[in-house]
Amino acid sequence: MTNDLLVEQARAAALRAYAPYSRFSVGCAIESIDGEIALGANMENACYRLGICAEISALTAARQAFGLDKVARIAVAGGHVGAGGSLTGAAPVTPCGGCRQAIYEAADLSGIDIEVISANGDGSQTIVSTIRALLPHGFGPASLADAGG
Ligand code: THU
Repeated sequence: MTNDLLVEQARAAALRAYAPYSRFSVGCAIESIDGEIALGANMENACYRLGICAEISALTAARQAFGLDKVARIAVAGGHVGAGGSLTGAAPVTPCGGCRQAIYEAADLSGIDIEVISANGDGSQTIVSTIRALLPHGFGPASLADAGG
């Protein structure tokens, strides 16, 4: 799948977010090494701090659909859902720090420097990066080699 099509899937997922508190809807589309797709969106809660991000939602779906060790590419898109029902917003949405950590874990399992495509609301602006660029010197499973036991 092209980057553009993966971003479209992330934008469509964002329209199914539950974000009544921030009014910032984020969608995430994950592609496996075999071309399978898993989707997620942010899901907020009246207890604000208990909301979950789109990337965590999609990684959870990917775990069920094909396994974290098969994650190859991730697209994230977000913004505000306007009166017309479409996603708007100027700035590409890059994964938050916590989500970078979760993507880093999947990258360790797959052995792939997962590609991360960040898009703005209408998909007109993208930043293409990789998880190792977004989280340099990250702490992952390999960092526990000296834990003993
Ligand atoms: N959000 C995500 O879903 N992913 C990110 O990487 C950044 C932030 C969500 C969390 C919250 O529901 C809303 O965006 C505003 O922070």
